[in-house]
Amino acid sequence: MRESMNGDTITQAVQGLLPEIVALRHELHEHPEIRFEETWTSDRISRYLTEAGIEHTRGHAKGTGIVATVRGPGARTVALRADMDALEIEEETGVPYRSRIPNRMHACGHDGHSANLCGVAKLLQQHRDRLRGTVKFIFQPAEENAAGGRFIVQEGLLDDVDAVFALHCWPTLAVGTVGFNPGAAMASADTFTIRITGKGSHGADPGAGVDPIMVASYIVTALQTLVSREMNPWEPSVVTIARIEAGFASNVIPETATMDGTFRALSAKVRARLFEGIERIAVRTAEAHRATATVHFHEATYPPLHNDPAMTGFARAIARDAFGEASLVDMRTPTMGAEDFAYYLEKRPGCFLFLGNNPSATEPYPALHNPRFDFNDGALPYGMELMARIAIDYLEGH
Ligand code: NI
Repeated sequence: MRESMNGDTITQAVQGLLPEIVALRHELHEHPEIRFEETWTSDRISRYLTEAGIEHTRGHAKGTGIVATVRGPGARTVALRADMDALEIEEETGVPYRSRIPNRMHACGHDGHSANLCGVAKLLQQHRDRLRGTVKFIFQPAEENAAGGRFIVQEGLLDDVDAVFALHCWPTLAVGTVGFNPGAAMASADTFTIRITGKGSHGADPGAGVDPIMVASYIVTALQTLVSREMNPWEPSVVTIARIEAGFASNVIPETATMDGTFRALSAKVRARLFEGIERIAVRTAEAHRATATVHFHEATYPPLHNDPAMTGFARAIARDAFGEASLVDMRTPTMGAEDFAYYLEKRPGCFLFLGNNPSATEPYPALHNPRFDFNDGALPYGMELMARIAIDYLEGH
């Protein structure tokens, strides 16, 4: 299959790079930065690329994004993407390289994704004479809460790309395995705020006012009928109100109430119906009770993530070839979590891969976004080899 660079060569190259990539991963872990503030991270990755002799451009996606390029002869271009950002979480792992910054933590493994992609870039740079086309390495800021990936697409960075791949560490899968999910693999995520305006009055005289807390309660309950009464049960969706704020005293009916929530869907069709339904139910339920409601949908949205079936099959064949049949996990259900790599996959065919992160076959591993989660270094050789082989084989026309 790989005439130009056999599997053993890649495996050896990965092993040679592994110590410095593990060290780089720990450095990134010590310096977690959140959405669009990844300046230390961006500088460190740029320095690594420079030392490896890899050309790259900076300043993407509002400033901290990096796009590196390794060119071989040939018309095809494949892109590999890693996210760079951390979360507002106080770390509780106790590892020697734990976060040096209060209330900041790489609790979603993006330190691992970025270090992994640095390793892949250096490996392919060292073997660029074997590439039959161009590889773009995209280091993307603000995956969490800000959908930074949309700016990569808006800047046109995928316009010359034929296919795009990314991976995410997955704590429910064992180290050495890779999860595949063709089609709808992750949900859309949208957030909204509902503001209800009633009329304040004495708590003993509700007839003189319009109680926004009562209206908010009706809206919360009615919103739950969207999923249970308006949708096809075979098309999953979620509506969650996660915050309510109203009132200030036990004997005063307040003037206003505010609620925040999120909704998830696996298709654009269901997502559109939820946009319509949330607005309709909030506005008209308020109206029925003499109050008014306004719904504001927030800007940082995540579309559903759709893995191209052919590209998923291609990546699966590479994993089977590299790591054996036992390494393949067919994820039978999508996750209702979201991922801004969905924007890339709206633009170009590709696949989002789930990289096994649990070192134990029997014990559970801390979940993503848990203060005890730490990307497992044992997954790096698999991640690096998988990404490198995907790039090489894709450019060879497989
Ligand atoms: Ni993540």
